[in-house]
Amino acid sequence: MRDTKIQVQNGSEPETWSGSDELVFFVNGKKVVEKSPDPQMTLLFYLRRKLGLTGTKLGCAEGGCGACTVMISRYHLDSQRPLHLAVNACLAPLCSLHLAAVTTVEGIGSTARKLHPVQERISGAHGSQCGFCTPGLVMSMYTLLRNNPTPPSELLHQAFQGNLCRCTGYRPILEGFKTFTLTQDGVRAKQNGDLSLDHEKVQNGGCCGGRTNGCCMNQDQGLDQDLDRDSDSGLSRALFDASEFMPFDPTQEVIFPPELISLTRSRRSRSLVFRSPRCTWFQPVSLDQLLDLKWTHPESRIVVGNTEVGVEVKFKNMEYPFLISPTQVPELNSVQHTETGLEFGAAVSLDRMEAELQNAVRSLPACQTEVFRAALEQLRWFAGKQIRNVAALGGNIMTASPISDLNPVLMSTAAKLTLRDREGVRELHMDQDFFTGYRRTAVRPAEVLVSVTLPYSRQGQIVRSYKTSRRREDDISIVTATFSVTFEPRSSRVHDLRLAFGGMGPTTALATATGKALQGRSWGEELLQTACSSLAAEMTLDPSCPGGMVSYRRTLVLSLFYKFYLSVLQNLAQQGLSVESVPPEFLSATEIFHPPTPSSVQLYQAVPAGQAVEDVVGRPLQHVSAAQQASGEAQYCDDLRPTDGELYLSLVCSTRPHAKILSVDCSEARAVPAVVSVLLAEDVPGSNSTGPVVYDETVLAQGEVTCVGHVIGAVVAETQADAQRAAKMVKVQYQDLPAVITIQEAIKAQSFYEPIRTLEKGDLEAGFKQSDHILEGELHLGGQEHFYLETNTTVAIPRDQNEIEIFSSTQAPSKTQSLVARVLGVPSNHVHVRVKRMGGGFGGKETRTTVLSTVVALAAHRLRRPVRCMLDRDEDMLVSGGRHPFYAKYKVGFSESGRVQALDVTFYSNCGNSLDLSSSVMERALLHLENSYLVPNVRGRGFMCRTNLPSNTAFRGFGAPQGMMVCEDWISAIAMKLGRAPEEIRDLNLYSEGDLTPFNQALENFTLRRCWDECLDRAKFYERRAQIQDYNRQNRWTKRGIAVIPTKFGIAFNAAFLNQAGALVHIYTDGSVLLAHGGTEMGQGLHTKMIQVCSRALGIPVSKIHVCETSSASVANTSPTAASVSSDLNGAAILNACDALNQRLQTYKDRDPTGTWESWVKAAYFDRVNLSANGFYRGQRSEVRDQRVEGRLVNYFSYGVCCSEVEIDCLTGTHQNLCTTIVMDVGNSLNPAIDIGQVEGAFVQGVGLFTLEQLLYSPDGVLLTRGPGTYKIPGFGDIPTHLQVSLLRDAPNAKALYSSKAVGEPPLFLAASVFFALKDAIAAARLEAGLSGPFRLDSPATAERIRTACADRFTAMCPAAEPGTYKPWAVLI
Ligand SMILES: Cc1cc2nc3c(=O)[nH]c(=O)nc-3n(C[C@H](O)[C@H](O)[C@H](O)COP(=O)(O)OP(=O)(O)OC[C@H]3O[C@@H](n4cnc5c(N)ncnc54)[C@H](O)[C@@H]3O)c2cc1C
Ligand code: FES
Ligand code: FES
Repeated sequence: MRDTKIQVQNGSEPETWSGSDELVFFVNGKKVVEKSPDPQMTLLFYLRRKLGLTGTKLGCAEGGCGACTVMISRYHLDSQRPLHLAVNACLAPLCSLHLAAVTTVEGIGSTARKLHPVQERISGAHGSQCGFCTPGLVMSMYTLLRNNPTPPSELLHQAFQGNLCRCTGYRPILEGFKTFTLTQDGVRAKQNGDLSLDHEKVQNGGCCGGRTNGCCMNQDQGLDQDLDRDSDSGLSRALFDASEFMPFDPTQEVIFPPELISLTRSRRSRSLVFRSPRCTWFQPVSLDQLLDLKWTHPESRIVVGNTEVGVEVKFKNMEYPFLISPTQVPELNSVQHTETGLEFGAAVSLDRMEAELQNAVRSLPACQTEVFRAALEQLRWFAGKQIRNVAALGGNIMTASPISDLNPVLMSTAAKLTLRDREGVRELHMDQDFFTGYRRTAVRPAEVLVSVTLPYSRQGQIVRSYKTSRRREDDISIVTATFSVTFEPRSSRVHDLRLAFGGMGPTTALATATGKALQGRSWGEELLQTACSSLAAEMTLDPSCPGGMVSYRRTLVLSLFYKFYLSVLQNLAQQGLSVESVPPEFLSATEIFHPPTPSSVQLYQAVPAGQAVEDVVGRPLQHVSAAQQASGEAQYCDDLRPTDGELYLSLVCSTRPHAKILSVDCSEARAVPAVVSVLLAEDVPGSNSTGPVVYDETVLAQGEVTCVGHVIGAVVAETQADAQRAAKMVKVQYQDLPAVITIQEAIKAQSFYEPIRTLEKGDLEAGFKQSDHILEGELHLGGQEHFYLETNTTVAIPRDQNEIEIFSSTQAPSKTQSLVARVLGVPSNHVHVRVKRMGGGFGGKETRTTVLSTVVALAAHRLRRPVRCMLDRDEDMLVSGGRHPFYAKYKVGFSESGRVQALDVTFYSNCGNSLDLSSSVMERALLHLENSYLVPNVRGRGFMCRTNLPSNTAFRGFGAPQGMMVCEDWISAIAMKLGRAPEEIRDLNLYSEGDLTPFNQALENFTLRRCWDECLDRAKFYERRAQIQDYNRQNRWTKRGIAVIPTKFGIAFNAAFLNQAGALVHIYTDGSVLLAHGGTEMGQGLHTKMIQVCSRALGIPVSKIHVCETSSASVANTSPTAASVSSDLNGAAILNACDALNQRLQTYKDRDPTGTWESWVKAAYFDRVNLSANGFYRGQRSEVRDQRVEGRLVNYFSYGVCCSEVEIDCLTGTHQNLCTTIVMDVGNSLNPAIDIGQVEGAFVQGVGLFTLEQLLYSPDGVLLTRGPGTYKIPGFGDIPTHLQVSLLRDAPNAKALYSSKAVGEPPLFLAASVFFALKDAIAAARLEAGLSGPFRLDSPATAERIRTACADRFTAMCPAAEPGTYKPWAVLI
């Protein structure tokens, strides 16, 4: 570290900062003056709680989901125009908003006034399912349009890097918003299915750069003919009509408040101070003021984007009494070219930095901008747009994170840092001494980082940056690196080599020994070998080090260097220097990934010719709440306005996996003035034992805790902040007991729930005897976090006579009702549970919601005051469990031809600390153990492991994906063993009509073969296979793979009694209809479909029908909205009610055949006819009892087939989903837009399950991944570049409503095609390393696993430590 000390004259005497200023800003055009703003308050809290603007949602509070996106505009005095930025309101400090204009989703349009075109298009294009992410997406798009009314399509990608959606699979959002963009020809893109963008890509060399024989889009050239053929055969591909959208006219947008312009001019140069009892916010306007403040308060934090400080305060219990905002200090906000480089003020945002670097790259000679281009490459993948808009370069440096993406750039290029305090200036050049430890730097407490100079590159210097992360977009790095080499003039001899790595220790690190060792050497194979062995020795990690993935991270060091090596070799060759040439098959290792613009096609059967226009069944009707969701009007549980006297509750959870509770000390918490009560087990008036199936859980822990996250107590206070603060003051003393965390530990300890489930058919022994081959294998399947965007929420309001009203985000109102009644010791008829809608559920809100709702109800009941709690994301992830991890062992016998003869499979599921629904989950896994293949002799056994983890629960697919995944694993192993293509083995063993499943149910109306053939045909599977083989021959370091996977999913609740539903239909005298049924709306469009059913049944338009909510008072004893059967069951109950009403009305229709609906209703009313009808549906009675099947086990099967093609980067393990083709049988679709939405949403959720999402637990059972920062669900960039979804035509299903089929869960498993395509690509890479035959690839196929499986010389240099010789950071549960 070069350190230059410069004395400067002291600026001024310390300013006295007294009093508190008023904060002035605008929200949706209205002026807000806040007399005493709280420096700890976020904009999101202010909007939602103080202004009642609940359209902006809270999804994570850490800048990782985008649900809280708003637009912040400021008047820029230099350019004399407002600048608009999309910002995360959850991180934006309220005090930072002085003289800003905030626009929220409510400010741009409403259903009452007029929707904004952005709101109209996302809803019209079916881009809103649960709607919780929708306002954030709307505001990201709106901000983009305010800055660029006709954005090119690639800007969409950037705009949404910071937004997540868990429901839609992203495609419809993009389709809707593409209509605002310009194609390359300068014309607006049209509606979905418009392939203009695809052709554009093909012309430009394709989505992947058009490598020889390689672009995935080449296969689409025949697509037009296919589509012509489809439209001739009655298939439709329009889910919306873009020509009906309102035009977007930028001149009609809300103007920037003129008063704010004059206020900005007059007040900007004034310093400000805002105080609360716990924190003071300073906003100095000069560097001297800033230095004085820092001198006086060295413990203060400088806050620019608050993207680090905000997260520390919220999640790491940090308290900062002094915060200083430097945004008005000119020196920290300027950008200028100096003699040596480009100097950035430390408070310059990353977004502005990116723009300035791009300008410099455009205007300067290329040889000077190597460093800038390396920085730009890092910025491209740095967080999301909302973070980059506010986060500063200085914040990134000073946080000193070991995985910072910019610090390697600065370190490898010795960037200059200018520091100041009241005594002078220091100039440092960043090197290995700058970071002095984990999150520590050489900067002194009173010093301020003023500026950072990125140097111009020199002649002969080459700089490259690389980032590897779990997810490409908006993710923290696993390993990040910048390499800079300078050669001696006109030579390939190294003059200087600086290799900086992030993610390889507690600080960003420079591989100084390697740099030195390579100095003076020529760039070539020998240098590579020395570099690799030197780096392998220098960049080591302890096997227990935080972050885990030790062997992968070490391999990445070598792999990234190898990429650099090739890239430099290429560069030197281009300069005409004599170096070894890069073989053409190695070139793809040097390519830089550019995100393609996805394109898609959706196909479905049009309604029959002659179907009445007003009959909406089978038509792509928009989700009935979509417009309200897009305008922010749709209310979720936490959007209910607080009622008088409302209290907030915060949970106290165990920090031990298994322990005796010795004592609970609540005295400190109770002493907090705002705390009203601390509740413990002894406060439960009814029963403290609870559970959805068996009562094996506690509402509040009693004497013992059995997992980290076990709820021990609850603190109830006047405000959320007080409740949460006080909850942390409750002290629990534990005596640890032995804990079982993983499946392997459970097997060792024989820790299982009873009974062991078995499914048997045929003669296993004979089957194996007949087999030519027997293969054994094992597989581990990770769990999955539901990650519904809306976390669990309950508001409980006590009423008189011991009644209680519960607003809960639950899929199971009746279960909530009965468990709350049990806890309170009141009959169920005193508990009224109401569910308007949920922001996603996916099974996670079927039973685990009662972990919260019972406690909130208890508090409200005891305190006789309304109580609310919306779990923070980290709490929700900690306490609510997820999909069961599975471990399976199998033995499969098969003939030489590949026909399966016998299968013996054993499943172990990690159930956690209570049974919950684990028994049914295991049952469903067993019932799907053969997926879609005929297995004559079979035995499946299921062990449910009792562990000290939070109870795992229902999740879309409910065990079936795990069962089917194991099946596909042995199918692919058979293929590898026989040296055949896996699709051949699949085809050979595929069921046929009439075949019997292992539980002896005959397959009737078996459409799977049709789906299979159609999918292969639409995907042009065999052409692709051949092209992939060519591609793989021509590329060593990138490989492609393809797989086609079928699925068969049994539709019915396993428990027979649940196959029932009720409905209540009221016709009012004005002819309007209020429809109530037992199902809940979580985004899946159930209410929309039920309205369609009711509309057809009564013969009235949908506009006359309304579903208000799901209420335990309207329909009693409802089954949870689960198992994909809610349309089937509730729809049938609605039909039953409508039949009764139709019969009652028939007399009046007959009497007045030319009358209207209204006149018939009136006539019936005046005739004293009951215009309310209760409907009921009793589904089939069948279930597994003692392993014996009684009756038909499932009502019918849903089928689908999916083909996916992927490309992997063998050196990093990252991959890209190139193309997916899905053919799904949904019978006669009730609503093709909703059904296609379910198919796509489930598919992308499955992509997360099988390739991306990884829940990490410490060996002590502590969940390490508790938010979007560490747990990655798929983002916009993870969807296939080309996606085609078609609903199988002419496939009516006699077993369900209007010949339809269930669709919620079945398509999830189709994402296994991506997993097996990855395995196919890995197999190709392994072949090059001389490895053939079956190999184990656990799910998810993460970058780490892909890289490790692609064994090569680099992996060989970084072997994993021997298990058992160290304590790993995370374990496979
Ligand atoms: C969702 C999300 C995604 C992220 N993704 C990435 C990523 O991809 N790559 C990555 O590297 N980082 C990432 N980060 C981390 C973070 O955004 C960056 O470190 C960012 O640059 C911090 O800037 P800030 O202005 O928000 O810092 P702040 O939170 O405002 O401040 C951070 C720290 O720096 C100190 N500080 C700031 N300026 C000065 C100064 N001038 N002098 C002295 N001290 C100062 C503050 O006192 C404070 O301790 C991410 C964060 C979030 C929340
Ligand atoms: S709530 Fe702000 S980004 Fe998630
Ligand atoms: S619609 Fe996006 S999260 Fe539900």
